[in-house]
Amino acid sequence: MTELPADPASLSPQEMRRLQQELQRFMLGYEFGLREIETKISILSDEFRHMHDYNPIEHVSSRVKSAESLFSKITRKKLPRDLDAIREHVRDVAGVRVTCSFVQDAYRIFDLLTQQEDVTVIEVKDYIESPKPNGYKSLHAIVEVPVFLSTGRQDVPVEVQLRTIAMDFWASLEHKIHYKYDGRVPADLVGQLRDAADTAQALDDRMQALHQELHGPHR
Ligand code: GTP
Ligand code: MG
Repeated sequence: MTELPADPASLSPQEMRRLQQELQRFMLGYEFGLREIETKISILSDEFRHMHDYNPIEHVSSRVKSAESLFSKITRKKLPRDLDAIREHVRDVAGVRVTCSFVQDAYRIFDLLTQQEDVTVIEVKDYIESPKPNGYKSLHAIVEVPVFLSTGRQDVPVEVQLRTIAMDFWASLEHKIHYKYDGRVPADLVGQLRDAADTAQALDDRMQALHQELHGPHR
């Protein structure tokens, strides 16, 4: 696998074209893997809507990491600047975020997705059960899904994040604050964010209790 040159201008046009094609093929694999997972989630969502007259999924968003942020991530991790290193060490090249109505829905969608026979769970991080010290909550999983290409089967890792609307609201504000202060968030704000995370959880608890009062515990 080609190592990325320190100075891309040193490449001949042919080398440049080959590198570009290699990168394109590499990124396409992740796009296809992402599409497989998106389809699975949208099928679950549609089925719920039609059969149960209820949709646990509020919103789905997805992205493939840009080549730029991939190379900056492996540089940060002091890994070799080549595609093999990314394939081996970066598990969130493809990512899907599923925002659910209630906490139990996040677990339900997780179960329904990971129980599928062509989905292999590589890693689970349950930040709902064990929130990060800053208050971050979400259920994370790295799953692998096969895509079938003219060259054969390729198993593609996809990062799936499941959370509630309240958790999503919190995470998007925290992300903006983190970004604004370049990671060095003032202690006072850190404290306020942790407080806000507790408020978000209290809202999730109340909404789920209300929902169950209306529909029973298994809805
Ligand atoms: P990365 O190297 O950043 O991918 O971390 P990781 O491999 O240890 O994975 P982790 O499960 O901690 O986080 C993966 C993703 O979850 C991040 O890229 C974010 O999208 C999200 N995330 C994790 N922690 C936080 C957080 O504190 N705040 C926000 N807003 N998002 C977070
Ligand atoms: Mg990440």
